[in-house]
Amino acid sequence: MNVLLIGSGGREHALAWTLSASPLLDKLYCAPGNAGIAEVAECVVLDTANADAVINFCALFNIGFVVIGPEAPLVAGLGDALRAADIKHFGPSKAAAQLEGSKGYTKDLCRAHNIPTAAYGRFTEAASAHAYLSTQPVPIVVKADGLAAGKGVTIAMTHAEAAAAIDACFSGAFGQAGAEVVIEDFLEGEEASFFALCDGRHALALATAQDHKRVGDGDTGPNTGGMGAYSPAPVMTKALIEQTMREIIQPTVAAMAERGTPFQGVLFAGLMLTKDGPKLIEYNVRFGDPETQVLMMRLQSDLLPALLATADGNLDTFSLRWSDDVALTVVMAANGYPGPPQKGSEIRGLEAAKRIDDVQIFHAGTRRDGDRLLADGGRVLNVTARAKTVSEAQAHAYAAIAEIDWPEGFCRKDIGWRAILRPKG
Ligand code: AMP
Ligand code: GLY
Repeated sequence: MNVLLIGSGGREHALAWTLSASPLLDKLYCAPGNAGIAEVAECVVLDTANADAVINFCALFNIGFVVIGPEAPLVAGLGDALRAADIKHFGPSKAAAQLEGSKGYTKDLCRAHNIPTAAYGRFTEAASAHAYLSTQPVPIVVKADGLAAGKGVTIAMTHAEAAAAIDACFSGAFGQAGAEVVIEDFLEGEEASFFALCDGRHALALATAQDHKRVGDGDTGPNTGGMGAYSPAPVMTKALIEQTMREIIQPTVAAMAERGTPFQGVLFAGLMLTKDGPKLIEYNVRFGDPETQVLMMRLQSDLLPALLATADGNLDTFSLRWSDDVALTVVMAANGYPGPPQKGSEIRGLEAAKRIDDVQIFHAGTRRDGDRLLADGGRVLNVTARAKTVSEAQAHAYAAIAEIDWPEGFCRKDIGWRAILRPKG
C-alpha cells in the first residue's frame, strides 16, 4: 500500500521512520516533509490546506491511506474531505477535532459527562469574563478558545494579569481563536501526556510520556511546543492509566459516539495528576510533538496496521507491544525560539552523532542546500536515545548532542530530570 503522511515536524519524521519499516508499505510519501523525512520517504510539494489538491494527489499516486500529523488540517476538515472522496485516512473529522479546536467545547463535554477537569467559565465578551474573574481566587488560567499555536494560555498569578489576558484575547491578540475565552481553575500537580488510539467506539491506550514545556533549564522561561520528552512517564502507574481510561478517555469516546461525531484517530490527553486523581487539562486530536518521537522508539509492533485498525473500527481486537526500555528525546532549537528563530544556519556532525548506540535523530525543521544541512524552523532536531534507564538514555542523547556542531542552536541540559530524581520502587 502507498501511504501519504502530512506534516513536516519531528513528530512526522518519527512516524515516517516507523511507517517506513512496515512490511505492508510499498511507498511512503510525505507532504511537505523535511530533510530528515526525505531519508525515509519521498517528500512532495502539495498544498495540504487544499483538500482537492490532496485528493488529486491520492488518485494520481494510488494512495491507499493518508496519515494526518498536525491539528490544523484536521480542524479545517481534511478528514471529512477524504472521507467524502472515499480515501482511507488516520485522523478525526472536523466535528470530532473540536476536542482540540475549541477548549470551551471540550470543557462543556467534560461537564456534561462528569469527566474530571478544572472548573471553568466560558465567555464571548469581556464584561461577563471580568465579572466572573472577580469572583475567583488566583492563580487562575485564561485561555483563548481556539487554536493559538500553544500561545493562547495565560497562568495568571494576579487578577490584574488575568484581566489583561482577557482583554488581549478580546482585542484580537490571537485572532479568531480568542473570540471566545475560557477561564478555569488552576490545577496543581505533575503533568503527563496520555495517548490512546480511538476507532470511534473503542480506545487502545498507548505508552505514556512526559514533556518539558518551558524553554529553560529547571522548567523556567516561556512555554514552547516542548523541549524534550521521555517515555514511559514513571508517575503514570498502572492504576493511574486504568483510572485515566475509565474516567477520561472512555467516557469521551462514548460521548462523541453518542453525539453522532465519533472520534477516530489518536486522542492526546494532557493530564494534571492532582491529589484528587488525574484531571484533563486539554485534548489534542493528533500525536504529541516531541512525545511521538519517544513513543516510536519504544514501539515494537507494526504501526501501520494499528493506524489502519483505527480507521477501520477494529481496535477492539488489537494490541501493541512496547519495549521496556526508556526513550528520551532532547529538542535542539534555533536561537530565538520560542520567539522568531534564526533560520538558515548550517548544522554539521550528524553522522558522528548517529553512531552512538540506540540514537535516532529526528528532524523537526531542516532543509538541504546541496550537501549542506540547514536549520529551517524553531525546533530543528530531536536527538533521541533508547536505553535501559532514563539516566542512561539521557547520557546517550547528550553524548550525541556533543557531536553536533551547530553554534546557532541550543537545547535544555536537564531533559528527564523529574524521572531521574523520582524515588525508585
Ligand atoms: P494547554 O495549551 O491547554 O495545554 O496549556 C499549556 C500549559 O499550561 C499546560 O501544559 C499546563 O502546563 C498549563 N495549564 C493549562 N491549564 C492549566 C490549569 N488549569 N492549571 C494549571 N496549569 C495549566
Ligand atoms: N508536546 C505537546 C504537544 O504536542 O502539544
